[in-house]
Amino acid sequence: MIVMIYACDLQNAIGKNGDLPWRQSTDLQHFKRITTGGTIVMGRKTWDSLPGKLPNRKHLVMTRNSRTDIDTVTFEEVLELSNEEDIFIIGGGEIYSLFLPYAGRIHRTIIHCNVTEPDTFAPAIDENEFSVIQSNFVKKTEKDQYDMTFELLEKQH
Ligand SMILES: NC(=O)c1ccc[n+]([C@@H]2O[C@H](COP(=O)([O-])OP(=O)(O)OC[C@H]3O[C@@H](n4cnc5c(N)ncnc54)[C@H](OP(=O)(O)O)[C@@H]3O)[C@@H](O)[C@H]2O)c1
Repeated sequence: MIVMIYACDLQNAIGKNGDLPWRQSTDLQHFKRITTGGTIVMGRKTWDSLPGKLPNRKHLVMTRNSRTDIDTVTFEEVLELSNEEDIFIIGGGEIYSLFLPYAGRIHRTIIHCNVTEPDTFAPAIDENEFSVIQSNFVKKTEKDQYDMTFELLEKQH
């Protein structure tokens, strides 16, 4: 299955200046818990934003250029792989838009803030197509900037 995972603010913003627009340690722990042991697919710009490979996950990067330093993957290959195992789509905006029509499940964290002048957004989710089946509000800790709500959305059949 194609599984998307992202964090967005109250206006659906996910990025600014090539990076995450917040410091949310609790959301990073949530991301780690869900994706560890699995295969993560990301756009080249999101790859560039990471300090390096995240432990214990298979990384596949989408790019239109040939690269030898990273494992790359095409759109069709991702869909094929998703027939065998859950594939986690981890961003950014271009890649979420590409795979939203094929996603069966979405882990969405609402970060309770309004980012000033964001430049990257998650695609709008059709609430008739996906249902929110879990929603957990979590107060910020001293390692977070904002409160957050962890949601799980599933596609309706
Ligand atoms: N809040 C969150 O949960 C979250 C998660 C991830 C990322 N982000 C943020 O999102 C921002 C980056 O997102 P973005 O939309 O600018 O970039 P992106 O989706 O990470 O990457 C875009 C790149 O992916 C490649 N690409 C796109 N479509 C492709 C296709 N059909 N086939 C092959 N390659 C394809 C291209 O790479 P080439 O140019 O190399 O060809 C393109 O430039 C950053 O600010 C990042 O911090 C936020």
